[in-house]
Amino acid sequence: QQQQRFVADASHELRAPITSIRCNLDLLAKSPDLPPEEAQAALADAQAEANRMGRLVGDLLTLARSDASRQSKQSQAIAVANGYKNRNEEKRQVDLDSLLLEVFRQYQPAQENGIDDARQQGPRLLLQHITPASVLGDADQLKQVLVALLDNALKYTPYEGTISLSLTTDERFAIVKVSDTGIGISPDDLPHIFERFYRADRTRSRDRGGSGLGLAIVQSIVQEHQGTIEVESTPGRGSTFTLSLPLAPIYFK
Ligand SMILES: Nc1ncnc2c1ncn2[C@@H]1O[C@H](COP(=O)(O)OP(=O)(O)O)[C@@H](O)[C@H]1O
Ligand SMILES: [Mg+2]
Repeated sequence: QQQQRFVADASHELRAPITSIRCNLDLLAKSPDLPPEEAQAALADAQAEANRMGRLVGDLLTLARSDASRQSKQSQAIAVANGYKNRNEEKRQVDLDSLLLEVFRQYQPAQENGIDDARQQGPRLLLQHITPASVLGDADQLKQVLVALLDNALKYTPYEGTISLSLTTDERFAIVKVSDTGIGISPDDLPHIFERFYRADRTRSRDRGGSGLGLAIVQSIVQEHQGTIEVESTPGRGSTFTLSLPLAPIYFK
C-alpha cells in the first residue's frame, strides 16, 4: 500500500513538468512568428522543467535502489539464518573530515566570486569546527547526505543569514551539525519532513526546484549506515540538523 502511494505521488509530481514542457512546445509549434525573446523564454522554460524532471527521476531511482537493497538484505538475513553464507558487504573506511571539507569547498567559490552584491553572495558559510573522524560506509552516499543538508540550508536561509558546519566526535559517534539562521520549520511540519515528497510549503519550495525527496534519501542512506539524523528548529530563527554515524573501529585504520 505504501508502494502504491509512492507511485501515485511520483506520477503526480512528474505531471507538472510534463504539462509545462508540453505547453511551451505547443506555443512554439503553433506560433512560428513569435517574437524571438518570447520563443527564447519558452525554450528556457521547457529546458528548466526538463532538468527538474531529470533530477526528480534521479531521486526516484536512488530511493528505488535503496528500497531494493533493504529488501535483499532482509532476504539475505533469512538466508544466513538458514545457514547460507553472507555476501561480502562493500564497506570502506571514509574520512568524514575530508569529505566535509570537500563539500564545504564546493560551495565556497560562489561566495568568493560574488561582488559586493549580497544577493549574489548568498548566506555566509562557516566551518566552525572539524575533528578527524572515520566511519565505515560509502563515500559517495555520505557525500550526497552532506550536499542535501547544505542545499536545504542554503535554500531556506535568506541572503544575510549564516550557515555553520561542524564535525565533532564522542566515544562512539562522529557528529556532523548543519545549522542555519533561516526560515525554520513549524512544529506541525517537523515530524514529517523526512517523508517522501513532503514539503512544508508546497508552492514556495517548488519554485526553488525541490521535490521533497532530499531528506527521504538522506534518511535512507543514514539508516543504511546505522546512523541517526535529528532536527531542531525554531520558525523564523533557523534549523539545526544533527547527523550521527558510528565511528570506524580503531583496527580499521
Ligand atoms: N534547513 C531547512 N530550513 C527550513 N526548512 C527546511 C530545511 N530543510 C528542509 N526543510 C523543509 O523540509 C522539506 C523537505 O526537505 P527536502 O526533503 O530536502 O525537500 P526539498 O528540499 O526538495 O523541498 C522542505 O520542503 C522544507 O519545507
Ligand atoms: Mg532538499
